[in-house]
Amino acid sequence: MRIDTLTALWSLLPIACLNVLVWLYFTGWFHLEASSNLLTSVPNLPTSKMASSIKRLTSVIQNATAKHSATVIFIHGLGDSGQGWAPVGEELGQYLPHVKFIFPNAPSQPVTLNFGMRMPSWYDIVDLGDLNQEQDEKGMLASRQQVMQIVRDEIEENGIPANRIVIGGFSQGCVMGLLTGLTAEYKFAGIVSLSGYVPLHKKFMNMVSDANRKTPIFWGHGDADQVVRYPYGVNSVDLLKANKYNVNFNTYPGMGHGSCNQEIRDLLAFLKQTIPEDSA
Ligand SMILES: *[C@@H]1O[C@H](CO)[C@@H](O)[C@H](O)[C@H]1NC(C)=O
Repeated sequence: MRIDTLTALWSLLPIACLNVLVWLYFTGWFHLEASSNLLTSVPNLPTSKMASSIKRLTSVIQNATAKHSATVIFIHGLGDSGQGWAPVGEELGQYLPHVKFIFPNAPSQPVTLNFGMRMPSWYDIVDLGDLNQEQDEKGMLASRQQVMQIVRDEIEENGIPANRIVIGGFSQGCVMGLLTGLTAEYKFAGIVSLSGYVPLHKKFMNMVSDANRKTPIFWGHGDADQVVRYPYGVNSVDLLKANKYNVNFNTYPGMGHGSCNQEIRDLLAFLKQTIPEDSA
């Protein structure tokens, strides 16, 4: 397969993104306990009836090259943009001509931890020492609404049913993919979770809907990840599996906070299985 010739696409991911993440790592932001959140109240998730006032995100769009019958929505990480992952869409698109790729751009907003500097971010990162209490749930839910609007547009305006949509992302985008995907009223074809974590810990399991209890989840994580460390991936997958989710967990030996050719090959296999061309 030609995907074997994939060059080092990962070097194209903006360096700025990594600088921020490395800084976060060294300040200790990611040193969280994955299971110690005792909050149990469940927010009222907005429904589609509240959609009219949502500000739409811009996105990098890669159209299907054959008849469009499935869509992948892939969400970038902190400090990045949709463009950062577009080369991956181009590569995958060669093998998935029926698939449209949508890479939404995060709004630019001040990130408290980074001295309030504005950067593309799906939610704020507030507190270094006590992340368990202080994850920016409000910001996450606001971004969730915007990502959900993309899903709704795809279903209602472009006629792609949810069971032909895969949603997911990388790092902070992985969090958004899980939050949007697993709390949705729609049943998706699949969820892609790269180098991220389940947000809001145990509370998250009180927020999920029933629609995606059996939806296949592709999880990729490098065991040398120094940013969202590997044990957080493992803990997140354990939490999902304990709640009977259908998670396909892939460890990439030696991989840091990024991706690698093998992961993209595995992702391609997952997409071919969950949104095959011929069942359209
Ligand atoms: C993608 O398809 C849409 C709808 O058919 C069209 O409006 C848009 O111009 C296309 N974009 C590109 C880059 O071809």
